[in-house]
Amino acid sequence: MPGDLYAGPVLVYALRKVTEAAARSAYQWIGRGDRGKGDRAAVKAMYEELAKLPISGTVIVGGGADEKGGNLNTGERVGALGGEREFDIAVDPVEGITYVAKGMTNAMAVICLTPKGTLFDPAPAFYMEKFAAAPAAKGRIDPAAPVESKLAELAKALAKPVSELTVFVLEKPRHRELVERIHRAGARVALYPAGDVAGALMAAIPNSGIDALMGTGGTREGLISACAIRAMDGEFSGRFDPQLATETAAAAKAGVDTSTWYAVEDLVRSDEVYFSATGITTGLLFEGVERSSEHESTQSLLIAGPSGERQILTTFHRRESQGKQQT
Ligand code: FBP
Repeated sequence: MPGDLYAGPVLVYALRKVTEAAARSAYQWIGRGDRGKGDRAAVKAMYEELAKLPISGTVIVGGGADEKGGNLNTGERVGALGGEREFDIAVDPVEGITYVAKGMTNAMAVICLTPKGTLFDPAPAFYMEKFAAAPAAKGRIDPAAPVESKLAELAKALAKPVSELTVFVLEKPRHRELVERIHRAGARVALYPAGDVAGALMAAIPNSGIDALMGTGGTREGLISACAIRAMDGEFSGRFDPQLATETAAAAKAGVDTSTWYAVEDLVRSDEVYFSATGITTGLLFEGVERSSEHESTQSLLIAGPSGERQILTTFHRRESQGKQQT
């Protein structure tokens, strides 16, 4: 009954299996110092699980652009195909590869679907400057304004003093000045070495302990955050912000506009969004994979737009259901 499948809560419930499979496959590589193996295992699991879903999709935001199939690369067709509906897809089988390799908190597997032709294609733009906040701040903050003004406007929108604002920033040398300015303005900074999808989601969820996300991170992560925040009707803006000489040259060649701040509605041109993220290691939003002799448990955050309905779902998987690779 395809009509039923495409009702938001049903499709997003089915989608969770894709991120659960990726998270469970990455689990065995937590804390083993290897950045590649956990990612490859998660990519394979996500690809195989997507092939069971009766949808047709094209990866718009994924891994590199090479031609090899099965890697969830940009342009790749995924799903059981032949489905009644066509989707644009953004994936990050391991958001926080470093966290997995180092056995740290906050790694997750994540995917979003939007109707075909509605997801911004970032081409070679690898880095994006981002601003995210809760629905109360939507449309009230100019992302291009100086950080001090943004904090003052955000404080007004959230009806609390600047001194009570906490801004999530990736701890990177490029953010030294940003952090100093936030501190000087009197707000708090929550510094994390990686994982700004979690930061953006927290910024968009009221009373999460994070009031805004600022600074530059991955474009892939920016578009994934934009999908979830579009569904929740929160505030998100992004500006392509090349960091490497090669990226600057590629972006210029492809005509990427680096001066415009894109609103969330430009990045995700539909409020019909299906988002699923499953914890690999325990993080700010949900728990990571846990294993006992009989079960593996996973926690997933599911968000469906346009209702913005979100759920955190704990699933207990019988261990043998993923075969011998888990033993
Ligand atoms: P890893 O998956 O490589 O560990 O990093 C993910 C991430 O931290 C994203 O959350 C963030 O958007 C981006 O990398 C920042 O990139 P960089 O570490 O190159 O500044």
